[in-house]
Amino acid sequence: MKKVVLAYSGGLDTTCCVKWFADRGFKVVCFMADLGQPHDFAPAKKRAKIAGASKIYIKDLRQEFIKDYILPSLKANAIYEEKYTLATALGRPLIAKYLVDVAHKEKAQYIAHGCTGKGNDQVRIEVSSMILDKKLKIIAPLRFWEFKTREEELKYLAKHKIPTDVTKKKVYSIDENIWGISIECGALEDPWVEPPSDAYRITKSLANAKSKPTYLTIGFKAGVPVEINGKKYPVMDLIKKLNKIAGAYGIGRTDLVENRLIGIKSREIYEAPAAHILISAHKEIESLVLDRETAHKKQKVALDYADIIYYGLWFTPQKKKLDNFINETQKKVTGVARFKLFKGGFACVGRKSPYSLYKKELATYGKGDKFDHSKAESFIKNWAKPYLK
Ligand code: ARG
Repeated sequence: MKKVVLAYSGGLDTTCCVKWFADRGFKVVCFMADLGQPHDFAPAKKRAKIAGASKIYIKDLRQEFIKDYILPSLKANAIYEEKYTLATALGRPLIAKYLVDVAHKEKAQYIAHGCTGKGNDQVRIEVSSMILDKKLKIIAPLRFWEFKTREEELKYLAKHKIPTDVTKKKVYSIDENIWGISIECGALEDPWVEPPSDAYRITKSLANAKSKPTYLTIGFKAGVPVEINGKKYPVMDLIKKLNKIAGAYGIGRTDLVENRLIGIKSREIYEAPAAHILISAHKEIESLVLDRETAHKKQKVALDYADIIYYGLWFTPQKKKLDNFINETQKKVTGVARFKLFKGGFACVGRKSPYSLYKKELATYGKGDKFDHSKAESFIKNWAKPYLK
């Protein structure tokens, strides 16, 4: 019998997928990943069963997501097109990894997902799974099935007495995990329209944000965030806590017209309070401990790393190569960055590190200056030499 492992979210599209595959004689195994999204797995599991799933895997991947995906991305300071901290994009290769894993365990010949034909996520899932096992066949029903609208999908489920979680008309398409939230569709499709306040999930609007500024310190050890205000936290708790603290100040919203992989532009808004503050804190500590050329190289690598994540090229040699360079730079990224949070934003107001290369006696314009000013003249002459005719 044909067997398919489906990346199942419990939403309308993938619930229809379960029934659609079952109707076509497939044995359907559902795979649900917990990446820190708000969820209620029990009703989703029930819907999958009613729709015809033979088995449902639910896996808590949060620790692996943080360790092998979020932290490397943070060490790289990866941000796509200057605004997107890549939460959705980072989750896809991990989901693909487990689709392949479950397919092997279940001896399934097929894997499937509920992504549409014009998004990035289909590419990320398929490229990743092909790299991990090119023999598995991939089916993406949404690219060719008979349903043209959500209403048709709802009708199909109703006809077969399959429940859904769709209560009212769904306005936005939302993807969420611990690193951030991606929101598109509805009014957002007009890039001129200000995002309606109901589009946001975890950040306060400027009007409702906390107005009394506060100070916050974030401590890092070898490129990994380890404490807030001097108190140690496991990374997962630290991210959750920062999302709360910064979200209350309306920090971490971005609004981006982005260049998708498949050649179109789309407008998306993002909420990622913890991600923005952590990347910023990480960069501040790097500013103290990295030498100039490594720091400049790393800025370029950050752009390439973000592209690799966005383009679905996680399991590739070029990603590994960049990891090697980045990890080499992180050994001394230990220290503390101090921020002031205010309504709608934050600013770094201080940073320190035991490995700091900053030398007050060389930088000062005041007393105690040890910089040898007399050497400057010959340095400048040599620096200019290649350009002199
Ligand atoms: N545009 C983002 C990306 O390509 C997010 C995609 C998923 N967004 C969503 N609202 N469902 O990674």
